[in-house]
Amino acid sequence: MPVLNRFADLAADITVWRRDIHENPELLFDTHRTSALVASKLREFGCDEVVEGIGRTGVVGVIRGRDTGSGRVIGLRADMDALPMTEITGLSYASKTPGAMHACGHDGHTAMLLGAARYLTETRNFDGTAVVIFQPAEEGGGGGREMVNDGMMERFGIQEVYGMHNYPGLAVGDFSIRPGPMMAAADHLTIRVTGKGAHAAQPHNGVDTVVVASQIVLALQTLVSRATDPLKSAVVSITSFQTDSQAFNVIPGQVELRGTVRTLDTEVQDMIEARLKTLVEGVAAAHGASAEVDYLRNYPVTRNTEAETAFAARVAAEIVGPGRVDPEGEPMMGAEDFSFMLNARPGAFIFVGNGDTAKVHHPAYDFNDELIPYGCSYWAKLIETAMPASTPVSEPA
Ligand code: NI
Repeated sequence: MPVLNRFADLAADITVWRRDIHENPELLFDTHRTSALVASKLREFGCDEVVEGIGRTGVVGVIRGRDTGSGRVIGLRADMDALPMTEITGLSYASKTPGAMHACGHDGHTAMLLGAARYLTETRNFDGTAVVIFQPAEEGGGGGREMVNDGMMERFGIQEVYGMHNYPGLAVGDFSIRPGPMMAAADHLTIRVTGKGAHAAQPHNGVDTVVVASQIVLALQTLVSRATDPLKSAVVSITSFQTDSQAFNVIPGQVELRGTVRTLDTEVQDMIEARLKTLVEGVAAAHGASAEVDYLRNYPVTRNTEAETAFAARVAAEIVGPGRVDPEGEPMMGAEDFSFMLNARPGAFIFVGNGDTAKVHHPAYDFNDELIPYGCSYWAKLIETAMPASTPVSEPA
């Protein structure tokens, strides 16, 4: 079963929507234009219900099959937000908004789910209900968390939920998925070191926070190299080192460090959080300084449930053939806010190849429109296979 013919016809329209969204990127929850565009398209297609304002700027569309006797309700999710970056692609449809750019392909994810919604409203060749979910603020704002906290799963009766992300470096239309942890938990770390400021020529009169914080940065790496089971995964990255002085000749009395901790396993996460605090306070105390740690658990592990992952892999294989679907792909230490939806309901997150393009979050990245028929077919086949119509109507040739 190749890509659905209907999407070969619709691909040109979907590409126009994708490029329009690309040209008008919006950040975090400020997806007002994109959300309005999505809601108006869903209404135009004839969705049975279109609800705006779920999780602030999220949009949900409900599409009932020709029958709904199966009682099944499946959610399909796309993300709508862009990144605070400046685009360097020089494309005719490049971002018109300085400092904002669709560098993660959420423009493509939104357009593909719209394409699937159009097909599903036209054909309704299934027994059950498809719920299309468009979330804001995937890039750090927790839009998925907000939609779940807003009662989305209960309100629409969603029983299972599926997500999809493009993947540069994987051939267009190839799929990769795995059961269990697919993407990491991403925790935010802030460390404030307090010492005693002094003249830079008289260090003995102070407690040098730069030296103390530098030792903390190095000591933190032992959490990965010495405290974590070598067969498990963890990343500790310090990404910001800020003193309270800009002078050449002043030892600063305060340093603030920021960073992230990535783990695929709750035990490792608990261990790192606990030992990190002891380590940081201990290193500071050894030098007569003090340190305070703020450890914020932001996005949890994106964990695919077993049965739904096997099902998703089977659907992808029906479209592109089993040779182009990796059912045991490598996990990634990046994070996904779809994790909140997967914590609320069983489901699976899948990668689809974006071809040989710049990586996501790079200023030269662009979503590859060639994968539109594959992504749309995956969504449509997923619904039609999970909730087969009692009297299937085959697609016109
Ligand atoms: Ni993304």
